[in-house]
Amino acid sequence: MSAMKNMVAWIDDRFPLTKVWNEHLAQYYAPKNFNFWYFMGSLAMLVLVNQILTGVWLAMMYKPDATLAFGSVEYIMRDVDWGWLIRYMHSTGASAFFIVIYLHMFRGLIYGSYRKPRELLWLIGVVIYVVMMATAFMGYLLPWGQMSYWGAQVIINLFSAVPVVGEELGVWIRGDYVISDVTLNRFFALHFLLPFLLAAIVFIHIVALHKVGSNNPDGIEIKKGPKGNRWSDTAPADGIPFHPYYSVKDIVGVAGFLFLFAAVIFYWPEMGGYFLEHPNFEPANPLKTPEHIAPVWYFTPFYAILRAVPSMAGSAFPGVIAMFASIIMFFLLPWLDRSPVKSIRYKGPIFKAWIAIFVVVFLVLGWLGTQPATPGKTLLAQICTALYFAFFLLMPIYSKMDKTKPVPERVTK
Ligand code: HEM
Repeated sequence: MSAMKNMVAWIDDRFPLTKVWNEHLAQYYAPKNFNFWYFMGSLAMLVLVNQILTGVWLAMMYKPDATLAFGSVEYIMRDVDWGWLIRYMHSTGASAFFIVIYLHMFRGLIYGSYRKPRELLWLIGVVIYVVMMATAFMGYLLPWGQMSYWGAQVIINLFSAVPVVGEELGVWIRGDYVISDVTLNRFFALHFLLPFLLAAIVFIHIVALHKVGSNNPDGIEIKKGPKGNRWSDTAPADGIPFHPYYSVKDIVGVAGFLFLFAAVIFYWPEMGGYFLEHPNFEPANPLKTPEHIAPVWYFTPFYAILRAVPSMAGSAFPGVIAMFASIIMFFLLPWLDRSPVKSIRYKGPIFKAWIAIFVVVFLVLGWLGTQPATPGKTLLAQICTALYFAFFLLMPIYSKMDKTKPVPERVTK
């Protein structure tokens, strides 16, 4: 034991190991009332590590070449020892990542975690979300199946809808006039790079979190409350040390998550065509357009918004603007909410109703994005798109006029 202590002392003289451990774990005081929703941040980190590790191993056997890519994935699935497991961990991991992140963002939404002083923390989060989307989009081209090819075709063509520079932009992204081997090669390079960028931004996300401290289900700033608890006289009274209390609690979340994750990998890896789409079991064929092209489920709400907005003079540009605007709304959120309280627990009926509408609308748009367009479904998508934007853009009004409940002095159990 003293050898261990000596070693730590040796390191501490050269690197702030104990200082960082205490500041960010053993003496980092987090609100004592975290619930289920607070598992998601640590789970997102777990899934990011899973994606990087399984991704690097896949890259050892994958071939980023238009003539070999599809076959190399089949080779991984059939011939490489445990290759099927690594691939399913990666493909299921991509969907798990978005499930966890959507829940993580939803937590922010209901507890007002985007409000002062956490605006920057939230903005960094939205940047992470955008980078995640770019990473997933590029990764999806790599198996070079029918949906990889035609999905990328649809999305890259959107950039071509931009007036004046559109055509050039499309060529610049593809590196060619059509999606080709060149496109595959650069998407592979970027898909390998971006997760490391994500890891760096996650680090900044945590630095920002530790500067302001976590919010909690009551939306109360524990730092502003009374001081002193059984660990320290200067710590917030409603705080408990992250380690061991939340490090242990997070392990419970990890166990629950791994149970579900393994169940999907072993019993339902394609998730009925939602995690791995059926047309992607056929090699890419530039001469044969699939009957119905739809992105993977985590993009479908935005895809539905894109299709809901009518073209103008034959150009899909208005839809493209609406799609990008729907993502930009998340960046604006901290300045749209004017409610005097943060958490949904103390917000009034109007805000609660709008959150419920938003959830239903997001899910319906997600479903519509998977479906072939019909006049009835397009109308429904248009209504949902209008409600989606109304949720954000009317927030300054309804959040102010809503009747809120009094917020307690201290966090509740
Ligand atoms: C790779 C993706 C991400 C990782 C690994 C990650 C990690 C974390 C962790 C570990 C926490 C603290 C634990 C917790 O509160 O759950 C946290 C808090 C937070 N994250 Fe993220 N995050 C990610 C993406 C996002 C995104 C996309 C957003 C929003 C758009 C976001 C917004 C927030 C906010 C506002 C908090 C503070 C919440 C509160 O205190 O109530 N994060 N994040």
